[in-house]
Amino acid sequence: MYLYGTTKINQNGHLEIGGVDTVQLAEQYGTPLYVYDVALIRERARGFKQAFIEQNVTAQVAYASKAFSTIAMVQLAEEEGLSLDVVSGGELYTALTAGFPVERIHFHGNNKSREELAMALDHEIGCIVVDNFTELQLLKSLCLEKNTTVKILLRVTPGIEAHTHDYILTGQEDSKFGFDLQNGQAEEALQQVLLFPSFEVLGIHCHIGSQIFETTGFLLAAEKVFEKLHEWKQKLSFEAKVLNLGGGFGIRYTKEDEPLAPAQYVTEIIRDVKKWSDLYSMKLPEIWIEPGRSLVGDAGTTLYKVGSQKEVPNVRKYVAVDGGMSDNIRPALYQAKYEAVLANRPLAESKETVSIAGKCCESGDMLIWDLPLPAAEQEDLLAVFCTGAYGYSMANNYNRLPRPAVVFVEKGEARLVVKRETYEDLVRLDVSLK
Ligand code: LLP
Repeated sequence: MYLYGTTKINQNGHLEIGGVDTVQLAEQYGTPLYVYDVALIRERARGFKQAFIEQNVTAQVAYASKAFSTIAMVQLAEEEGLSLDVVSGGELYTALTAGFPVERIHFHGNNKSREELAMALDHEIGCIVVDNFTELQLLKSLCLEKNTTVKILLRVTPGIEAHTHDYILTGQEDSKFGFDLQNGQAEEALQQVLLFPSFEVLGIHCHIGSQIFETTGFLLAAEKVFEKLHEWKQKLSFEAKVLNLGGGFGIRYTKEDEPLAPAQYVTEIIRDVKKWSDLYSMKLPEIWIEPGRSLVGDAGTTLYKVGSQKEVPNVRKYVAVDGGMSDNIRPALYQAKYEAVLANRPLAESKETVSIAGKCCESGDMLIWDLPLPAAEQEDLLAVFCTGAYGYSMANNYNRLPRPAVVFVEKGEARLVVKRETYEDLVRLDVSLK
């Protein structure tokens, strides 16, 4: 059994996270329940930051809040000195409500609306990552209208698509995001923004994918960007103050996954950025990164109560839990794999292989296929590990299941940070015909 962070088995023989017994958590807060190991989030954040500090490189580690955007999480990111990446008015609103320092907020997105951009300008956030020509025009007109200036990064697509274990090099990337680096769009965009006095062009952003286990993709992206920066220095006298290489650092979901430590990704990125800056006689840019999954993913555990079971003789046994694709859509959407144990008796011998079904009215609502487990009984507690990223943030109300509560646990204490949705919440926005 692989135990993440502060997770351990306590003297009651129960799974414990952050010094709190998960059986107690389930009793107190109900199930399904998202439990976050705060110490592990802090450890991951420090892992990324420390590597920059040790090498004396000016950097920003921005938490990609799409992975799990709530007021408490944003406040934790602030406590750890992170910056924040938001991709919508809603994520920006969450950050503002949490009191996050505006100058460290970066606004992403391929289709930011006029209202969202206006909101960002009105709150004078740190920078806007401009994604396309439509946005460029919109932002220009808003700056003129509001008689204001804004710091921007240009998002480019460097022609590298990185996936978990491999990366694909393409001359021109077929992506809805960013200005293409190879076909001249990025240069055209840069020329335009440099001419416009309301924009302070900080530099370049690129993001090559998610759940990446190697550094090769990041290093290739840096190489491609530097080739262009070299050209642009000569042609346009432009020097980037900032190079943002995005997020995508992989984590361990199951024993098949072997991620690198945060420090290793960072160390190799710094090494290459220094190499290219030296080679092209450029000032070393600030290096920004945007981890989402790798900050919160393995810190999250979902607790479910076991319910009904169905045996299909000689085929499989289904064990159903009281949540499913409504609180974690990743298995249904991406065939994502997870490990799990019975939290109330994690040491019991796994005598059978079962498949964990959700309670939604859809055959595809399966959380885990073929999981070794002790013979489960009703009311047993199932802990699914590593659900902290894109779990709660992609939760939904399919079948009108209320979304779970979320608790933070640290040093023996639990704090409710998102309340469980109620049936009243579910109909709150409905308008009755009667
Ligand atoms: N920066 C940008 C511009 C991004 O698009 C993303 C993720 C990140 C940073 C953070 O990437 P991370 O470090 O979390 O891999 N829902 C999918 C993941 C979508 C990722 C989208 N962009 C999932 O559940 O696997």
